[in-house]
Amino acid sequence: MTGLVVAMDGPSGSGKSSASRGVARALGLRYLDTGAMYRAITWWMLWKGVDLSDQAAIASRADEPVLVSGTDPESPAIQVDGVDVAGPIRSQEVTAAVSLVAAVPEVRARLVALQREIIGSGDIVVEGRDIGTVVAPDATLKVYLTASAEARATRRTAELTGTSVEAQQAAMARRDTLDSTRKTDPLSMAVGAVELDTTALNLDEVIAEVLRLIKERA
Ligand code: DC
Repeated sequence: MTGLVVAMDGPSGSGKSSASRGVARALGLRYLDTGAMYRAITWWMLWKGVDLSDQAAIASRADEPVLVSGTDPESPAIQVDGVDVAGPIRSQEVTAAVSLVAAVPEVRARLVALQREIIGSGDIVVEGRDIGTVVAPDATLKVYLTASAEARATRRTAELTGTSVEAQQAAMARRDTLDSTRKTDPLSMAVGAVELDTTALNLDEVIAEVLRLIKERA
């Protein structure tokens, strides 16, 4: 790995996606949304009628979907079996099911390998839950974004329709618990990561801070 690799981990609503894309844009780097890959596999499993309460059933089909992830921060693209799923992977149905699929070791092994392939020689900002711990532990910079539960729910609610901050906060708490207590590669802060609490920061301030940290290291 020779080029710059920025690992951006943290729970949902911590501001990872907007900050990661902003940093990639500012520095002319590629951008990879690994959450979109877990969502795309989940969309495919639902499409194929796989029983998501059955880990073995998910595992046995983990190698089947053909995933293509774009790395342009301006228009993050994702396709499964040739179908553009950038929209459908954000549905409530996929969001509610993704933690079940992401907990299956065979799914993680496949996606981690794919993510390392895409990272290749670097010059990329990668966002997810296990980038600094598992996918790219040698990243130039590892950032762990956090924010208060209320701030995270408020941000997510603003992006969606037909939901309340309270409902979002409850749904996010459920997903966080599943993501941080699963056996394989749970969400946790990597050794050497810089924790950045975004509760009181706006997007430009978060981007500026990450750019400052990159400059410090590169
Ligand atoms: O960031 P997101 O909400 O789009 O992620 C969707 C789900 O995928 C989330 O519940 C946790 C999982 N995920 C993961 O397990 N590992 C990653 N590197 C990225 C996402």
